[in-house]
Amino acid sequence: MHGFGQMIDILKKNPKTIVLTEGTDARVLEASSRLLASNFLHPILIGDPDKIYEAAEECGFNIRGSEIINPATYEKMDEMVELFCELRKSKGVTPEQAKEYLLQNNYFGTMLVKMGYADSLLGGATYSTADTVRPALQLIKTKPGNSIVSSCFILVRPSATGGNEVLAMGDCGIVIKPSEDELVEIAEETMRCAKIFGVDPRVAFLSYSTDGSGNGEDVDRMRNAAMKTKKRNPDVPIGGELQFDAAVSPKVSKKKCPDSEIAGAANTFIFPDINAGNIGYKIAQRMGNFEAYGPILLGLNSPINDLSRGCTAAEVYSMAIITAALANQ
Ligand SMILES: CC(C)(COP(=O)(O)OP(=O)(O)OC[C@H]1O[C@@H](n2cnc3c(N)ncnc32)[C@H](O)[C@@H]1OP(=O)(O)O)[C@@H](O)C(=O)NCCC(=O)NCCS
Repeated sequence: MHGFGQMIDILKKNPKTIVLTEGTDARVLEASSRLLASNFLHPILIGDPDKIYEAAEECGFNIRGSEIINPATYEKMDEMVELFCELRKSKGVTPEQAKEYLLQNNYFGTMLVKMGYADSLLGGATYSTADTVRPALQLIKTKPGNSIVSSCFILVRPSATGGNEVLAMGDCGIVIKPSEDELVEIAEETMRCAKIFGVDPRVAFLSYSTDGSGNGEDVDRMRNAAMKTKKRNPDVPIGGELQFDAAVSPKVSKKKCPDSEIAGAANTFIFPDINAGNIGYKIAQRMGNFEAYGPILLGLNSPINDLSRGCTAAEVYSMAIITAALANQ
């Protein structure tokens, strides 16, 4: 995997800014103090400076020198309101409504990225996934050529043979029940993200069926999506539909699908829906001792990422580095 060392080296050559929307959260403050002690990533904390300094002092973190922007006193609020109304023209948003949105840290921080003031954003230490992602969907929008924003997790654990075992799993966090074509897009974006982390993708479209052993709409959806993805990416090993054991065990693969080009060695997993995906990555994390990084949002015009509300300060720090490093791609 491109370790954090490599990501940090790249960021050192081309430093980036990252908005942290929850400026008074203790974990965000701890991560910010670590980032401030470095010189490769410039955090911008959103909130009332008095409250942020008070919280930092209470927790004992040094955030001296950090940039803090308070939506309530932001000098370019009029310009921001105007752009917000323009972006949400089709919804008939009035300047009063725009101002109300922009006084919320999540919308305000997202607009800083939209206006080019910041390169990236990380939120979700206290905001729900929906409240972090919605402003990005509405204001940053999908990049050209993409029809949806989705997400993946990168899972990492030390390998028995030395180095790290790195896997990619999508979509475990955003699209609730993807269509066949959406699965193709999720797979292609997850593959692209996996490569950034040094994974040479071998892609399994997961199901309760292997090569027609079971029937059902969801089986057809996964099989068709796998075929469509293979057609568009002939050089990538892709299998589907596959059960998880056939995807990861060479022995089972030989029995259940001897012709599979994945041959029981998948490292990039595409789930049929968010239920399977979210449960699946958490099993790997909690019972397989993988570190889980994500959800990493895929298909947006600028890098914006979401934290789990149960995150630690170390996770805020590493996700900030990953998010900013994606701005360098
Ligand atoms: C992502 C999510 C929050 C969007 O939900 P929402 O805000 O209620 O969505 P809405 O249907 O109201 O859409 C809001 C806007 O985002 C757009 N949008 C919604 N999903 C989108 C997607 N996957 N990609 C791109 N745009 C999307 C809509 O088109 C709409 O745009 P508009 O306001 O310009 O018309 C929703 O899909 C969700 O809750 N996913 C699960 C999140 C979760 O709980 N994850 C588990 C923990 S990781």
